[in-house]
Amino acid sequence: MSDELKRIEKSAGDEIRAAKNLEELEKLRIQFLGRERGALTLILRRISELPLEERAKIGQRANKLRQKIEALLDGRQSALKQAVSESVLRREWLDVTRPGIRPERGHLHPITKVLREIEAIFASMGFVVAEGPEVETEYYNFDALNIPEHHPARDMWDTFWLRQNEIKNQPSSRAQVEGKSKIKKSERLLLRTHTSPVQIRYMEAHNPPIRIISPGRCYRHEATDASHEIQFYQLEGLMVDRDISIANFKSIIQQFFSRLFGEAIEIRLRPSYFPFVEPGFEVDIRRSQKSTFVPSSGRGKIRNQKDEWLEIAGAGMVHPNVFKAVGYNPKQYQGFAFGMGVDRIAMMKYKIPDIRLFHSGDLRFLKQF
Ligand code: PHE
Repeated sequence: MSDELKRIEKSAGDEIRAAKNLEELEKLRIQFLGRERGALTLILRRISELPLEERAKIGQRANKLRQKIEALLDGRQSALKQAVSESVLRREWLDVTRPGIRPERGHLHPITKVLREIEAIFASMGFVVAEGPEVETEYYNFDALNIPEHHPARDMWDTFWLRQNEIKNQPSSRAQVEGKSKIKKSERLLLRTHTSPVQIRYMEAHNPPIRIISPGRCYRHEATDASHEIQFYQLEGLMVDRDISIANFKSIIQQFFSRLFGEAIEIRLRPSYFPFVEPGFEVDIRRSQKSTFVPSSGRGKIRNQKDEWLEIAGAGMVHPNVFKAVGYNPKQYQGFAFGMGVDRIAMMKYKIPDIRLFHSGDLRFLKQF
């Protein structure tokens, strides 16, 4: 029996140390210490067969061995448990300080960016933003703006006319309701060729004083090139009150361009003609920087500013016929209006050589902004 105990001691030590996981270890516990057929249990059961003097000795050794095996099992068990949790930790380890995968962020179109800047500058001078429909009637786009049918000035705007649909629900203009206008409202549909119809719509719905800007898309039926698109953006401005003069316009427009370009700007008004203003003029600006990017036919050019006036807007004092069309008394009120090309301003600001890039959908272009 003494030999058996030695054998058990040796094999328990070897096998427990070699156990690879907790299940194997549990099997070894049963194999050596199990109540029914554990190796040690079987020996203890046979102790009574021994001569009396050996019983106590063997019994003591067997008990010591049991304690030893239990200690071995416990030791191995905690070692295995620790190994398990370490491997879990290693597998699930996460370095929270690593830079993540940056999600691709969208951004604003260069036209939108310029428009927002423009709106912020005018807002600070008390102008509110008014909008109008891109599908307009002939009345708002032409007639009410003192451009009657057959007027040669209509040639200034190459118009996309739409197939005529039912537009019976269109609310009639206040001018007509009040009978102050002789203009017959024409309901033929077109894509607006400028943002000036918003002047009419706004004045129909509001009384002076008025200070609005109106940005939006316009359409002209013309050949495209680097500086002409059939679809483009205009920004309309309108200020109406008592005692408004060209001096007011000049100071506001000068303020505006100086702030937009972040440099001192010179303003020059040249006589010009638009049917809805009198007098009418073209607005030229001259920048103070040494060189100025000028989007021009073919390619943009860097020009010397010294002698360079840039035509940037059309403007004028609101024509009495326009005031009559919306039911204002032209003897009481004056106003100025202006219209400028937003694309052209964006091209100058961002040095973009070709207007067609704006709507090309070319990501190499768009990602630069
Ligand atoms: N609507 C004119 C155009 O498209 C610009 C303009 C607006 C001129 C207001 C004078 C006053 O050419």
